[in-house]
Amino acid sequence: MLIVGTTASRRYRTAIMGLGVAIPEKVVTNHDLARMVDTSHEWIVTRTGIVERRLAADAEAASDYAVVAARRALEKAGVEARELDLIIVATVTPDMPFPSTACLVQHALGAVGAAAFDLQAGCTGFLYALAVADQFIAGGRYSRVLVIGVELLSRITDWTDRNTCVLFGDAAGAAVVGPAEEGIMAVHLGADGSGSHLLYQPAGGSRLPASHRTVERRQHYIHMNGNEVFKFAVKVMTQASLAVIRKAGLSRQDVDLLIPHQANKRIIDASAKRLGLREDQVYVNIDRYGNTSSASVPVALYEAVEGGMVREGDIVLLVAFGAGLTWGSCVLRWGVQ
Ligand code: UT7
Repeated sequence: MLIVGTTASRRYRTAIMGLGVAIPEKVVTNHDLARMVDTSHEWIVTRTGIVERRLAADAEAASDYAVVAARRALEKAGVEARELDLIIVATVTPDMPFPSTACLVQHALGAVGAAAFDLQAGCTGFLYALAVADQFIAGGRYSRVLVIGVELLSRITDWTDRNTCVLFGDAAGAAVVGPAEEGIMAVHLGADGSGSHLLYQPAGGSRLPASHRTVERRQHYIHMNGNEVFKFAVKVMTQASLAVIRKAGLSRQDVDLLIPHQANKRIIDASAKRLGLREDQVYVNIDRYGNTSSASVPVALYEAVEGGMVREGDIVLLVAFGAGLTWGSCVLRWGVQ
């Protein structure tokens, strides 16, 4: 049951009231990529689990996808855009450096009563944004928050670099959250900036403003040390999961379903194994979308819910890692709103 309006003496949990996604139409297969760079379908599948990814059309931008995902989430939640108190957009590929993509989304939705801002935590962005929303809801400040993870990584992918171009895709996922009896039980966030050089876009900011030189040096693209990120990911996905399970007062055996960031099937498998979870307790869609950064967790959660994998009362664990380096996890009890 949804509790509308909080009292000073009682605190509620933050529940996901509705989810929505927006996925590009254009499919790019591993075979397509093998015609562009020195790679093969076999290498990509074996090393990453990716079979295909979706890429946005040239004229589209992040806010276009964010708005579509948001409208669907609002509809599922039965919430009008004008009821929203806050919009948080997690992205590393905003429409432009400023204003925020959240403000563009606010205008497009007609969410005239909502504050709006972007948040950036690499692929952990959605979980950081959900944690911020949780604070506003649990504190009683707001009752309707729209949280969006959107990425058009195709815009910052070097399509001549086989080390990175096979990994990424475009998508958006959105969640409308509000106060309820059941919902988020615990969140856990972390960061280690000493690893900032392992995954980054060197140019386009105040250190290396855009110039002919930065373009010639291909510094506006994703640069990544894949091996180091891989090692970090396996370690931190497990640690962040165990930390949030502990915070929620639960044990590993209580988790019904894991929704992990979809960066590499081998990272997901290793994390699930360390957590003692069976294959059917882990949602995987990396084969169809690749790594969509901050969109990956909400898109996977949406598909798991729509596919009937999440039942009322289930304990769902969300976990992600990303550029920063950052990590985040969330345990929630799924309830009927
Ligand atoms: O959301 C966070 C974003 N990032 C990640 O999650 C990335 C985490 N890292 C990974 O997923 C993996 O490290 C990769 C998939 C990026 C790479 O897999 P790997 O098993 O760590 O391969 P590797 O980097 O050790 O490279 C092995 C070989 C190299 O050749 P040599 O030096 O052994 O001759 C690479 O040049 O594979 C080569 N290689 C490729 N070959 C065919 C690298 N990319 C490709 C490719 N096709 N696309």
